Amino acid sequence: MTIENTIFLLKDGSVGTLCLPDATAENGKAMLRYLYQVSSETPYTGRSAEDVALLTVEDQVAWLQKSLDSKDSISFICVQNGQVIGSCEVELLLWKRCRHRARLGLSVLKDYWGLGVGSAMLAHMLNILRGFNYIRQVELEVYETNTRARGLYEKYGFRITSVQPDALQLDDGTMLDAYHMVCRL
Ligand SMILES: CC(C)(COP(=O)(O)OP(=O)(O)OC[C@H]1O[C@@H](n2cnc3c(N)ncnc32)[C@H](O)[C@@H]1OP(=O)(O)O)[C@@H](O)C(=O)NCCC(=O)NCCS
Repeated sequence: MTIENTIFLLKDGSVGTLCLPDATAENGKAMLRYLYQVSSETPYTGRSAEDVALLTVEDQVAWLQKSLDSKDSISFICVQNGQVIGSCEVELLLWKRCRHRARLGLSVLKDYWGLGVGSAMLAHMLNILRGFNYIRQVELEVYETNTRARGLYEKYGFRITSVQPDALQLDDGTMLDAYHMVCRL
């Protein structure tokens, strides 16, 4: 799905752009760099840096093209000075009985945490989803120790509906529960 470019001000006064860029090799490389960095900086993306290292630029070019063409997902990234600094994706459930549901994922590079990038992406995505009058709820999973993400989601009206025990295993073997959260649109 194509997305109109939208600019916003970060809390430090700099400008970020929310967009879904063309599926070029250069943009594929920028996406791969982003995924590698973000998965090295936090365990909460689920996918580890080792998993990302298996991906290729071609995979990311294909992901960009699929996102542009897709009817069952909405994706955009946040770019600043040519660098990808955040990413937000929603999977739409297409079966008639589940069409009211959307599943969200979100991440931001650590250097930019606390500057309002997560808020800007989440607010933008919720606005896009409100434009689909049949989508009634947005769902996600957040790991139990991820207080920053939980705080962000609660600020936008997400509430915990259930807990999945031992959903994530950290490198040291620690198991984390996942909270399933839902936001009614
Ligand atoms: C979670 C994440 C997306 C937040 O992005 P961000 O750009 O730092 O978020 P913002 O600066 O917009 O902060 C949003 C809100 O989060 C909440 N928040 C921030 N830090 C918090 C903390 N330490 N504890 C509790 N809530 C916190 C606040 O409500 C804040 O809003 P405010 O600034 O108006 O008070 C980012 O930290 C990230 O990418 N983390 C790693 C990947 C990840 O966890 N993704 C989510 C998977 S479910």
